[in-house]
Amino acid sequence: MRGADMTSTADITEDTIRSALRPVLDPATGQGIVATGQLAEVAVSEAGHVRLRIDLISPGFPLRAELEAAVRDAPAALSPAGLELQWGLRVPHKPARQDKNRLPTVKTIIAVAAGKGGVGKSTVSVNVALALHAMGAKVGILDADIYGPSIPKMLGTPERQPGTDAEGGGIAPALYRGIAVMSVDYFVEPGAAVIWRGPMIHKLLTQFLEDVRWGELDYLVVDLPPGTGDAQLSLAQLIPLNGSIIVTTPQEVALIDVRKAVNMFGKLEVPVLGVAENMSFYRCPACGHHDEIFGAGGGKRLAEEIGAPLLAQIPIEPAIAFGGEAGTPVVETNPQSPHAQAFFTLAAQAAMRASQRSATGPRRSSLLRTVD
Ligand SMILES: Nc1ncnc2c1ncn2[C@@H]1O[C@H](COP(=O)(O)OP(=O)(O)OP(=O)(O)O)[C@@H](O)[C@H]1O
Ligand SMILES: [Mg+2]
Repeated sequence: MRGADMTSTADITEDTIRSALRPVLDPATGQGIVATGQLAEVAVSEAGHVRLRIDLISPGFPLRAELEAAVRDAPAALSPAGLELQWGLRVPHKPARQDKNRLPTVKTIIAVAAGKGGVGKSTVSVNVALALHAMGAKVGILDADIYGPSIPKMLGTPERQPGTDAEGGGIAPALYRGIAVMSVDYFVEPGAAVIWRGPMIHKLLTQFLEDVRWGELDYLVVDLPPGTGDAQLSLAQLIPLNGSIIVTTPQEVALIDVRKAVNMFGKLEVPVLGVAENMSFYRCPACGHHDEIFGAGGGKRLAEEIGAPLLAQIPIEPAIAFGGEAGTPVVETNPQSPHAQAFFTLAAQAAMRASQRSATGPRRSSLLRTVD
């Protein structure tokens, strides 16, 4: 049943289209796009040309082709004059429990974690945040690495330093190319050794959450310190962490520590959105040779073991390290490169899983498939 079977142009109205699209389900949530209001706009021209605007639950929605096919197969698509689809973005928001409701204007909080230092958490945090922003979301980064804050340096020159919020009081976060950022780095002397004890960390993070005017955000990316310490515990108590991205390198030594971090999140009831395997392989720019310097398959094994998807594999790439040093992250400077694309994939996969949980709760997560 396609095209020619449609009775006449006059039969096509907003109502007929809405009823025809009622059975179409969002492939990530299993919910009807009409029932949820994701079908945001229906316009029918006199000639019977139909234009729909559908809101996606996350930026760079990886199942968009699937959703589009379902819409085009629905009887509403039978307009002889054609169907135009426009895509919007409306990230779902599940309000937090009363005791954790410190960030009511932030829809999704994603923690970036790892068992040990130096595996690329901050690099992942920065590039994922920039990728989400580039794909249309409103994004902030909370640098929760109190001992080794590195987010401001990785982002380079801000448009705005943090300061007093002129209107509502409180602290206005720093701003980098549209991304709101807060870090302890703004408040300590360069090179100063700071000793933070548990209660001080808790107080500082509470301030970052309660006094900073984050504004309306779709995603707040939280760069955690390595391991399973005070900052992780405090954050999980203070705010609803919608999910974590676990960063690992492929070698087994690192995996032992990662498992500890995963167990901690399990105890804190923070869902693991998936695993990001960083420094997965090196592709020689001269000869194209693919070398798995740090071993192979660690991310996949870990993902299988913890029952979470492998979200992306990020190559070892000097430009990634250089971009971090120079304040020019690869997602901004060379977005089409394969290494930047790996961050876009990671961002889109993680965001979809977080949004999917906000929309439906944990039970339907089995609907989502893993990336090979
Ligand atoms: N895929 C990559 N290719 C090349 N270099 C990378 C890659 N990922 C990270 N790096 C580099 O590795 C170093 C460690 O990365 P990063 O600071 O992001 O790790 P981290 O886990 O946040 O470390 P820490 O535990 O100290 O906070 C940095 O110099 C960074 O530029
Ligand atoms: Mg770091």
